[in-house]
Amino acid sequence: MSKTIQKNIHYKKYQIGSTLQYFKPHSTKIEKSFADEISFSLNQPSKFINPKFFYDKKGSELFEKICNLSEYYPTRTEISILKKLKVELPQYLDGSFRLVELGSGSSVKTRLILDVLIPLQEKIEYFPIDISEILTESSSLLQRDYYNLFITGIIDTYEGGLEFLKNYDDQKNLIIFLGSSFGNFTPYEGEEFLKKVNSTMKDNDLFLIGLDLVKNKMILENAYDDSQGVTAKFNLNVLSRLNDELDANFNLNNFAHHALYNENDQRIEMYLKSLVSQSVVISKSNISLTLKKNELIHTEHSHKFKLSQIRELMHQTGFNIKNIWLDENNYFALTLVSKNI
Ligand code: AVI
Repeated sequence: MSKTIQKNIHYKKYQIGSTLQYFKPHSTKIEKSFADEISFSLNQPSKFINPKFFYDKKGSELFEKICNLSEYYPTRTEISILKKLKVELPQYLDGSFRLVELGSGSSVKTRLILDVLIPLQEKIEYFPIDISEILTESSSLLQRDYYNLFITGIIDTYEGGLEFLKNYDDQKNLIIFLGSSFGNFTPYEGEEFLKKVNSTMKDNDLFLIGLDLVKNKMILENAYDDSQGVTAKFNLNVLSRLNDELDANFNLNNFAHHALYNENDQRIEMYLKSLVSQSVVISKSNISLTLKKNELIHTEHSHKFKLSQIRELMHQTGFNIKNIWLDENNYFALTLVSKNI
């Protein structure tokens, strides 16, 4: 039996049943930081909104739709690699790993990993960490199909959730971070994030990360500006969220989705373009903005990687690479690492 070191006093525990519980920081912590972050980021000479704010309930639903678009290759490609792992991942595992997922986005991918763990252990503990409360719904769905699944959701930022995990107990963890969400960090944030994961990990823990690879510009730009306009809706939804949660008065008709691939920086850049000159008030952030016609609000970077860069990054941040799996087109990579001790 593992020792519980529960020191997470800033979290409230919600017990939903004998196999499902979740933890959430006392609410003011999240709301305050959202208003403050927006006040800061939209007051800069180059305005931006952190992409983590895309994922309210509506944003998470729109993202699920993006994942099913024909132009958006990352999801199905990563799934094709995960299917191969059923044979190859068990050689790195024994029967005592808890599955910790950063983001609880796609239950399809979670299921593929659970299917790897199931033959190895009788009981599976699953800890999804996600800022969006959608994790409580996806958790119940998983439990319909996996009777021996014990879920502890953590509704918080990745950093907060990792800190929670560090203070929780001494159980062995397989931490997964799929979907190339890592690509949405700046290079600095990415390094800090990997160091944070590394410092959370115990010597025998494993970390599996999915990263999108550099490829043809057209394929990339189509993936982020799809013909059905779902990505456009996803991008604009962040303004609805500011309207609803921070009492802002953005008129969504005055903005357009704009996405391009920056080859030098190896990243898709996503913006909201102001179609007119306009002013907007965000009451709870205590700001009033003026936007010129064609002014851009930056909303997302989605970095693409070369294999050599993945290897270098992992070594720099204290990891030891166990394996890198690719799909047949070399579009996407899944990298398994342990802590370099
Ligand atoms: C979550 N993240 C990895 C997606 C990406 O591909 O960067 C978010 C996204 N933005 C537009 N389409 C998808």
